[in-house]
Amino acid sequence: FCYTPFENFMNTTSASMIQTPSQVRIFDTTLRDGEQAPGYSMSRSQKRRMAQVLAELGVDIIEAGFAQASDQDFTSIQSIAQDVRGPIICSLARCQQGDIEAAARALQAAQRSRIHVFIATSPLHREFKLAMSKQQVIDNAVAGVLLARQYADDVEFSAEDAMRTEPEYLAEVLAAVIGAGAGTVNIPDTVGYTTPSEMFDRIAYVRKHVRNIGQAVISVHCHNDLGMAVANSLAAVSAGARQVECTLTGIGERAGNAALEEVVMALKTRSELYGVDTGVISQRLYPAARQFNNMMGIAMPRNKAVVGENAFAHEAGIHQHGMLKHRGTYEIMRPEDVGFERSQLVLGKHSGRHALRERLAMLGHQPDETLFESIFAGFKALADKKREVFDNDLEALANGHDPEASGPWHIEQWHTASHNGGTASASVRLSHDQGFQISEASIGDGPVHAILSAFERATGYALTIRNFNIHSLSNGGDAQGQASLIVDYMGREVRGNGVSTDIVEAAALAALEVVNRIERIKAPECLAANLS
Ligand code: KIV
Ligand code: ZN
Repeated sequence: FCYTPFENFMNTTSASMIQTPSQVRIFDTTLRDGEQAPGYSMSRSQKRRMAQVLAELGVDIIEAGFAQASDQDFTSIQSIAQDVRGPIICSLARCQQGDIEAAARALQAAQRSRIHVFIATSPLHREFKLAMSKQQVIDNAVAGVLLARQYADDVEFSAEDAMRTEPEYLAEVLAAVIGAGAGTVNIPDTVGYTTPSEMFDRIAYVRKHVRNIGQAVISVHCHNDLGMAVANSLAAVSAGARQVECTLTGIGERAGNAALEEVVMALKTRSELYGVDTGVISQRLYPAARQFNNMMGIAMPRNKAVVGENAFAHEAGIHQHGMLKHRGTYEIMRPEDVGFERSQLVLGKHSGRHALRERLAMLGHQPDETLFESIFAGFKALADKKREVFDNDLEALANGHDPEASGPWHIEQWHTASHNGGTASASVRLSHDQGFQISEASIGDGPVHAILSAFERATGYALTIRNFNIHSLSNGGDAQGQASLIVDYMGREVRGNGVSTDIVEAAALAALEVVNRIERIKAPECLAANLS
C-alpha cells in the first residue's frame, strides 16, 4: 500500500510550487470549510487571531474564507491577508467572474496569495445542481482558472465531488485546468463516500492518465461522513498527493473534514511508511487545538485523537505497569511532541506579571501591553475567587477580549432567584454606549432561562436559541463554567460565550456577547469604525 512517487513533483510551473518531493503541504481550511459547520461561526477578529495561531503552527496555506460569500468573509480575508505573514493566504471562489474578482481584491495585501476556484464535476452535480453538460463544466473550469491566473500566479482548482466523478472525465477536466495554469489540482471527497483503497486507486489513476499532471501538485480534501477522512487523506499521500486539506480538530460541513492534527501526527509517527514530512510544528498542535475550542466555547471530547485530555492517559493497571518499564509499550507518540502537558495547574493569587506572561506565551498568546494589563486584572480577580487558575481559565481570559463583542451593551447588575418546584425569576440592568440604561425582569423555567428572557426584553432582540450549553473549564467545585449560546438572527448564526465561576453569570455574559454582535450586524458601519 505504501508508494512514494517523487518524479511528478519535480516539475512544477508556478514559483510558489517549488517543493521537495517528500514535503506534504498542509492546507488549512478551518476558517472556510470549518466555519461552514453549524456552531462554528467566527467574528472577523476571532478569524484573524486563529489565522495567527495557524501561521505559528506552521501550516503552508490558510484558506481564510470565501470572499464573495459575505461582506464579513471578504473583510476577514482582507485583514488576514494584511496582517498574517508566513503561510500563503487563500480565498475560495466559484468559477465566476464576480467571485474571482472578489477573491483577488480581498487578497491584495497578502505577501503570498492563492485563488482557489472550484466547480462540481460529478454527474449528479452536473445534472441537478449546475444543469451543465460535461463540456460546459470544462469550459467554465478553464475560464475560471484563466481569469484567476490574471490576478494570481498561484491558482488551485477543485473538482467538487471528484470522487463520484467518472475517472476518465475527471482526468480530462484536470488536464484542461492544468493546461490553463492551475498549479494545484484538488480531488475532494465532498460527501465523505470514499474508502482508502478507492482513494489510493483514484490518485494513482490521475497520476497515470492526466498527461500534464507533472506540472501540478495533487491535493486531497476529504470529508468525514463515514469516519474515513483522515484514512483517505493518508491513502492519497501514499499514492502521491502532496497537499492535504484539513481543519483543526476536524471541524467542517456535516461530520467535518480530515483533522489536521491527526494527519500530521500519522505522517510523523509512521514516517517509515509514508516517507514524507510536513512543515507543521507538532509541539503547537495541542495548544492550537485548545485555543480554538476555547474560543468557540466548545469542549474537546476527552478521547479526541492526538489532542483530547485522555489521549495520553493510562488508567488500566496493566498499562501503567508496562509504561513504567518502557513508555513505548503503550505510547506511540510522546505527549511533549504534540505540546501536551500533564500538569494543567498553573498560577495562583501570588503569581505575578512575569509568570502570567510566560504562561500565556506557552499557550500561544502574545498580547500587547494594554491587552496584557486587562488579562492580568482579570487573572487577579479570578485568583481571588478561585484557589488555582488552570490553563483553560487563562485561555478563556485571553480569548475573552473580542472587540466585536464588547459594547455597546454592558451589564450593570443582574439578579436571579429560584427554588424547587417553582419558576425562576431574573432581573437585569443594562447600560448602552449611547447613554441610556434599561432594567427588565422576567420569569423562566430556571435561572438561566429567566435571565436570557430578561435580556430579550431589555434589548428588544428575540434570542431564538439554536444551541446553549455550559461546560466546566477545569475540575473542582470552584471551577469556572463556560456558557456557549448560539442564536438565529435574521438567518444568521450569532454566537456568544461567557465564563464565570457562577454559571448564571456565564449565561448572562454569553447573552451579552450575542446582543452586542447583533447590534453590530444591524449597524455594519460601527464594525468598520471599531475594528482596526
Ligand atoms: O468539499 C468540497 O468539495 C469543498 C470544495 C469547495 C473544495 O469544500
Ligand atoms: Zn469541503
